[in-house]
Amino acid sequence: KSIKIFAPATVANLSCGFDVLGCCLDTVGDEMVITLTQEPGVRITKLEGADLPMETHKNVAGVAVEALLEKYGKSIGVAIEIYKKIKAGSGIGSSAASSAGAVWAVNHLLDKPFTPQELVGFAMVGEKLASGNAHADNVAPALLGGFTLVRSYTPLDVIKLHTPKDLVMTVIHPQIEVKTSDARSVIKQKVTLQQAIHQWGNVGGLISGLYTEDYELIGRSLEDVIIEPLRSILIPEFKNVKEAAMTHGALGCGISGSGPSIFALSKGMDTATKVADAIRKVYNTTGLDFDIHTSIIN
Ligand code: HSE
Repeated sequence: KSIKIFAPATVANLSCGFDVLGCCLDTVGDEMVITLTQEPGVRITKLEGADLPMETHKNVAGVAVEALLEKYGKSIGVAIEIYKKIKAGSGIGSSAASSAGAVWAVNHLLDKPFTPQELVGFAMVGEKLASGNAHADNVAPALLGGFTLVRSYTPLDVIKLHTPKDLVMTVIHPQIEVKTSDARSVIKQKVTLQQAIHQWGNVGGLISGLYTEDYELIGRSLEDVIIEPLRSILIPEFKNVKEAAMTHGALGCGISGSGPSIFALSKGMDTATKVADAIRKVYNTTGLDFDIHTSIIN
């Protein structure tokens, strides 16, 4: 038995929701082919498009599937082919696409013994290997689609949120690598009560805005007073990109995951295209290599 899948890119944090909010991009992602084999054990049989380890225990898809099979308890063989389109260290959930895609496909081939929430738990083992931290805000939207909230890590409680149909995501990826582990090391471990009040007000506002499809409220809530001020210094032209996106009609703009990608959320494809053009202009003046994607959220 074999299956070919699209493993989607994701935007984590969404400004105010560090480690808890994320959403899934409809058109940006990797391809994978997963096959159940006679010979027990997990093997990465092909890895194209990236210079990543093929040893099972060093590969995020490998360890995620091993975690699933350990729970499954039966002796199963799995061969994984990965065709990477998402660059590692780009900030749009490259490792999450591989680990979430692999566990989703294996679960499908085994006739779905596990719930989506359990799959999130297995895929998090891949995230732990990739960044040293088992965060779920990329793997959850990759597995559940649309917008997701990690309400709790202990115990794991992942919620699929409502996705307004007119939201379009523009992502610019400067071709520099920012390791999630490095981007996490610049964050302070303590926040003030004042910052926390500001941030949880925005998280509530954003979720309310998604459910009521109140685009203005979504825009007002896309604000991060804790992480963005510290991390944005790692990203070339962050301030100018944000200013260009906002003056061309974006609802909000912030760091995608741990960066260096920057996301801008817009209402409708027309605005998203204008925003993409404006951001492109900013980067064209820098001489830096970059690419831009525009995608609906699904
Ligand atoms: N929430 C994680 C972080 C996402 O910002 O470190 C990493 O893609």
